[in-house]
Amino acid sequence: MKHLSLAWTLLAAAGITFSACQSQQASSPKGNPLMAHEDEITEIIAGMSLEEKVNMLHAKHMFSSAGIERLGIADIEYADGPFGIREEMEPDSWMPLGWSTDSATFFPTGSALAATWSEDMAYQYGKGMAAEAYLRGKDMILGPAINIQRLPTGGRTYEYLSEDPLLSGALAVGYTQGAQDNGRAVCLKHYAVNSQENMRGFINSVVSERALREIYLPPFEAAVREANAYGVMAAYNKVGGDWCSENDRLLNKILRDEWGFRGIVISDWGGTHSTVKAALGGLDVEMPSDRYFGQALIDSVKAGVVPEEVINQKVRNLLRVRLTVPAVPKEVANKQMTSQPAQQQIAYEVASRSIVLLKNEGLLPIDAQKVKTIAVIGDNATRRMAQGGVGAGVKALYEITPLQGLQTALEGTGITVKHAQGYIVPGRMRRNDKNAAAKAKEVEATNKKLAKEAVALAKEADLVIFVGGDNREVETEGSDRKDIDLPAGQNELIQAIAQANPNLVTVMVVGAPVDLRTVNDCTKSLLISWFNGSEGGHALADVLTGEISPSGKLPFTFPAKLDDSPAYSLGVYPQEQPAASGDVFVNLVNRDKFRAEMKADADYAEGILVGYRWYTTKQVKPLYPFGYGLSYTQFQYSDLQAKPGKDAIEVSFTLNNAGGMDAEEVAQVYIARPQSAIERPAIELKGFKRIALKKGESQTVSLSIPLEKLRHWDEAQNGWALEEGPAVVYVGCSSDNLPLKQNINVAR
Ligand code: BGC
Repeated sequence: MKHLSLAWTLLAAAGITFSACQSQQASSPKGNPLMAHEDEITEIIAGMSLEEKVNMLHAKHMFSSAGIERLGIADIEYADGPFGIREEMEPDSWMPLGWSTDSATFFPTGSALAATWSEDMAYQYGKGMAAEAYLRGKDMILGPAINIQRLPTGGRTYEYLSEDPLLSGALAVGYTQGAQDNGRAVCLKHYAVNSQENMRGFINSVVSERALREIYLPPFEAAVREANAYGVMAAYNKVGGDWCSENDRLLNKILRDEWGFRGIVISDWGGTHSTVKAALGGLDVEMPSDRYFGQALIDSVKAGVVPEEVINQKVRNLLRVRLTVPAVPKEVANKQMTSQPAQQQIAYEVASRSIVLLKNEGLLPIDAQKVKTIAVIGDNATRRMAQGGVGAGVKALYEITPLQGLQTALEGTGITVKHAQGYIVPGRMRRNDKNAAAKAKEVEATNKKLAKEAVALAKEADLVIFVGGDNREVETEGSDRKDIDLPAGQNELIQAIAQANPNLVTVMVVGAPVDLRTVNDCTKSLLISWFNGSEGGHALADVLTGEISPSGKLPFTFPAKLDDSPAYSLGVYPQEQPAASGDVFVNLVNRDKFRAEMKADADYAEGILVGYRWYTTKQVKPLYPFGYGLSYTQFQYSDLQAKPGKDAIEVSFTLNNAGGMDAEEVAQVYIARPQSAIERPAIELKGFKRIALKKGESQTVSLSIPLEKLRHWDEAQNGWALEEGPAVVYVGCSSDNLPLKQNINVAR
């Protein structure tokens, strides 16, 4: 028998067994449609010149890469993504073409989708995106965006799904299957550890291997292993000192060798930095130019520094996608309007399950017997959120605002709805804007006037619905927020409104956490209704009027204050930002020199304690915890049975809708390992299920939790390990409300 190392012996004594080969091996994804054309592809490649091959490996235009014209193999057409098909732009600029048929459905953004906690909704969402991509002649959707929401201030939190890898992964799988079952490819983005926008163009993410494996990679891994995602976008940042677009470890070793990825890796726009290193490091397509993967790549092959076999493999990857996702016939593409009723219905279904009720002291649903006049106050009551800020937006065919939704829903009820804007959020100022001070003064004066009008309207009404929060200028790609304060003096405004009329319902339209302490104190009912897509206003009105019961659950924690959150509390974020930095799009001319000089590390010092893992372990009380969300009905949980088996823990319990209304509930299963030999979060989400129950109905709910999901990454052994021994299974309706509990023993 071989000698075990001391560390190994100690771990074995502690009941930790390793399953390294299981995790390290490339599982060739079963039935991967990408693998159906290998012989044909070999033949095609054999007949191609080097120039023809390299021609496929970079952008043809801003959103396309070339096919092989001679063989009638079409270009690949890419489309942003992730929450609607982006409008058509000039081939080589960001200038919209102003077409009349490219208005798309605006789907609820990432955090809204995640708030549904529904793989089925994610599937429908992917299906809807695929249908509209097809109508627009697009092959690959640049989405879903599945980075972990690490920072409350993160600029793209609204696009991303969750702070939890299991929830993010399950929804990424749903989205991917929905899109790809319906004939279009996804492109998972941004791989990997791109959890901040500030300095994303040159920051190096320094993250422990354990956190990488347990927190940041699982959503990507799930969508690759379980759903055979056809595309992956390499992120702008570096990980472990290497740009993601030339990161041999991330792209070759982990994505392809370990997970068995067979599709294409494309760079984020402008995120390629070399020819040889990127070619050998696993990048297939440079977007949106040919700076490194054009003539320079041909020269590198001729010089013998990039083997032609590497080029052949990239062409193979591309052809796999091209032959699996047939090009949209010319006579079909762009012949009808992109947004169609079937997708609008999906947008509604998602939105109506995403709205989270945080607090309800009797005002909701609106009582039509008591309420005759409603004052709807707030800029977000009428603001459209499909576009704004930097980055992909949707030219929405239509977007029902909260005010429109309410007006339509209350038509004919005798209830009068009046609106006051209440505040405006100042637009983004240019750096060094000479008129900045004057403009700020002007906004301040306007806001004073608007506040006065709003308070006067509040006094006249039976019920006030304040619709505030952020907007798409505030939460945006390219920069993180400086803080999580509500913009434009909304706290002061809401206090004044509450004084004028205590019957106050607040609707927060946000895609990320905001500081809700003031709002929470002075409002009786509080909801989060997200950047909720074309049908957002209808969904909100249906919840407010009680047509449906709210059933969304928070996909991230609302901390009481920003400093409570892990990276802020540890002082590792924000990093000092060099004065001349800005977004990746600035300084394009001297880009390489600029990037070489700009060195900065993002220290992911909290390790695996991201999101609720931090708050529960460090016992820091958030304002509203992960998984939280109320209903108009009452759900009762009972009869938990958790049976550990050889491969899975079989969990079952009874859920009863004990209230007076049909409704849906998201039941959540968390597991704790109280006597663990290693660092563990207090609890971790290991399963969840959305269940629809009629009033009075009971159901036995069953869930199977694969033991695989209980493994941790053992850094010493560089592999996954399953710790045997005691565990506690908790079941309930949120991370802080888990009424059912059972001790079990985990053993293989
Ligand atoms: C974003 C990507 C997007 C690409 C093309 C980049 O700035 O990071 O998410 O797909 O632009 O619009």
